[in-house]
Amino acid sequence: MIKGIIFDLDGVLVFTDQYHYQAWKKLANRLGIYFDEKINHRLRGVSRRESLEILLENYHGAPFGEKEKAEMMEEKNRTYRELLKNMKRSDIPQSVRDTLVQLKNLGYLLAVGSSSKNAGTILEQTGLLPYFDYISDGNGLRHSKPHPEVFLKAAEGLGLPPGECAVVEDAQSGICAAKAAGMKTILMKGGNCSESVDLKIQRLEELVSVIYSSSSALVTGAFCK
Ligand code: BG6
Ligand code: MG
Repeated sequence: MIKGIIFDLDGVLVFTDQYHYQAWKKLANRLGIYFDEKINHRLRGVSRRESLEILLENYHGAPFGEKEKAEMMEEKNRTYRELLKNMKRSDIPQSVRDTLVQLKNLGYLLAVGSSSKNAGTILEQTGLLPYFDYISDGNGLRHSKPHPEVFLKAAEGLGLPPGECAVVEDAQSGICAAKAAGMKTILMKGGNCSESVDLKIQRLEELVSVIYSSSSALVTGAFCK
């Protein structure tokens, strides 16, 4: 029986992909490295450090040292945080807020499980923070998705065993992390994933009706493969 729902942040609750893209693109341009939207898609769900390594796959000069890589990540993050200032409460549709409230009213505990170290800033800026019982983010994580750490921390924060949690994700790395944690998986449309999942939804707002219409798939555990 599912008692907790853990939401990925980027690509599920907020659409920061374009900001990540613009910030990585600016760095890539400065370094003369080819970077496009398709490569950016591979960065979904993976940590800042792994994102940089993916970007550098197209760099064919002498290898960069650790210090230079750290500076590059700082540079990208500065640009990204500048762009995040554009985010506002009205970027989150009222229907998404209503869905979170309805899920709470149905008795579910809600958490965020994100690889991002900027999760707190984003949640505060969009006014989403109060909707969640626990935030598990990229700060202090030893392993990033597809390792299950971020979701296991979220379950622990909710006081639930992993088997009583479902994860809403848009990225393959996140779906793999949720499976490795022993949790149910819900894939949002637009997500890039070749893994089998328990449920697919087009929009976050469908979550409540999915719970009702599938004879409480989340409640009974009657997930389809
Ligand atoms: C994830 C994004 O949520 O957070 C990734 O999908 C990103 O693209 C990762 O690399 C880390 O984000 P941040 O904000 O810590 O650089
Ligand atoms: Mg995501």
